[in-house]
Amino acid sequence: MQQASIILDPDFRIGEIDPRLYGSFIEHLGRAVYGGIFEPGHSTSNQQGFRGDVLDLVRELDVPIVRYPGGNFVSGYNWEDGVGPREERPTRLDLAWKTTEMNQFGTNEFAAWCRAAGTGLMMAVNLGARGIDAARNLVEYCNHPAGTAWSDLRIAHGVAEPQAIKTWCLGNEMDGPWQIGQKTAHEYGRLASEAAKVMKLVDPSIELVACGSSNTQMPTYPQWEETVLDHLYEQVDYISLHTYYRLENDDLGTFLAQSMDMDEYIHTVVSVCDYVQLKKRSKKQLMLSFDEWNVWYHARETDKLLMRDDPWQEAPPIAEEHYSMADALLVGSMLITLLRHADRVKIACVAQLVNALAPIMTETGGSAWRQTIFYPFLHASRYGRGISLNVKVTSPCYDTKEFGPVPLLDAMATIDEDQQTAIIFAVNRSQTGALELTGDLRGLNGYQVIEHLVLDHANPAAMNTADAPDEVTPTKQNAATVKSGHLATVLPKLSWNVIRLQKTPVNLSLS
Ligand code: AHR
Repeated sequence: MQQASIILDPDFRIGEIDPRLYGSFIEHLGRAVYGGIFEPGHSTSNQQGFRGDVLDLVRELDVPIVRYPGGNFVSGYNWEDGVGPREERPTRLDLAWKTTEMNQFGTNEFAAWCRAAGTGLMMAVNLGARGIDAARNLVEYCNHPAGTAWSDLRIAHGVAEPQAIKTWCLGNEMDGPWQIGQKTAHEYGRLASEAAKVMKLVDPSIELVACGSSNTQMPTYPQWEETVLDHLYEQVDYISLHTYYRLENDDLGTFLAQSMDMDEYIHTVVSVCDYVQLKKRSKKQLMLSFDEWNVWYHARETDKLLMRDDPWQEAPPIAEEHYSMADALLVGSMLITLLRHADRVKIACVAQLVNALAPIMTETGGSAWRQTIFYPFLHASRYGRGISLNVKVTSPCYDTKEFGPVPLLDAMATIDEDQQTAIIFAVNRSQTGALELTGDLRGLNGYQVIEHLVLDHANPAAMNTADAPDEVTPTKQNAATVKSGHLATVLPKLSWNVIRLQKTPVNLSLS
């Protein structure tokens, strides 16, 4: 059996984990809203039409913030269409996804859904087809207490209290040729800077996210980041990063290594932010909002055909990725990568939450179930709180053309000093066998293993479906031990692992 080792020390601190690292995203895309979170008449729905089975799964994931309403959708969206009496709301073409938007769900419904789900709202404004005016009006509608046209309209719409939305995205993927109202970095930088100024005049307490590049393959990356930040560094709190990875040519080794690209991406954007900070002699250190990340490849071709051959449907099944065991491993490594950068990545949104590119899947009128990727996200969100620790990994590697040598073991750890718990998250990327893991737990005196959870499957292509929702589920493994501060366990082939450690009380009894 091949062997790997880690050194874990509570003094190897990276940073405090912002709970919003486990955020998510709901866009008006496919069945994310209609048939996903909102389905009046569904057997589990409440009076507001919110699906109860979906709410339960979202609560299980403990998601602290959800970005809304897009995504590409937001760049063509008139927020005014989605508020007020439902029967008066217009039906529109959604040009981003070539569907018909009925506007039966909008800002106030989403804010109410967030309250029901126990999560916060991260709102995006339209800087594509619209601009400063629509953005400032939306901030006033949502956040101003009362006594102005927009705030009184909200009250007339049945929402007496301000929504108090703190985090706002200044548009979406504005560098992308697919985006409605695509802009150059200069054009976007100027517009976003003015929008930021005016939105903060309406509500100075809000925080803002500027659009970074849509991904690392964009021809303007990372010059885009520098130019945009030159315009608005002092006005924003975060810059966004987006990435989706895919399996190509059945090359699982390269697929699983793509978290290394994510790592490099974060390094690069941090460097650009710090360079602009130095240029501006600024005291402010900018943080990152990785507000779209996931695996996306299964549905891309069928989606293209659907949009080409059968456009303008209401809530068609677009971007419905049926995630495999292998996808869950890459999602696990992406979570590990986010934790590795918890000092600078303060918000991250798995894209998305329900049906479209999502950990939760539903049948309209039917059941809801957990996809494979639900589990690494659940474990990280539930247990990966507190401080992230820099784990020293020693591991055998395999070779790839794109990334060179790739370690079989990907691992990170977190510590919660109040709870006296430490968690090791580990992916065994090996396609050939289990990995024997040993760990030097220096400084973690008295910590013992309380649980070793494993997500694996004999078939890396295995997935959960409505008929077999538990085909891929975590199991508990009993092999992990800690003796004299040394951990020993086995990580099965192609597995996601969560090793939970807890300090055991010293037995003070003298008898
Ligand atoms: O999440 C799906 C889409 O991916 C979003 O609408 C867009 O921002 C990104 O390209």
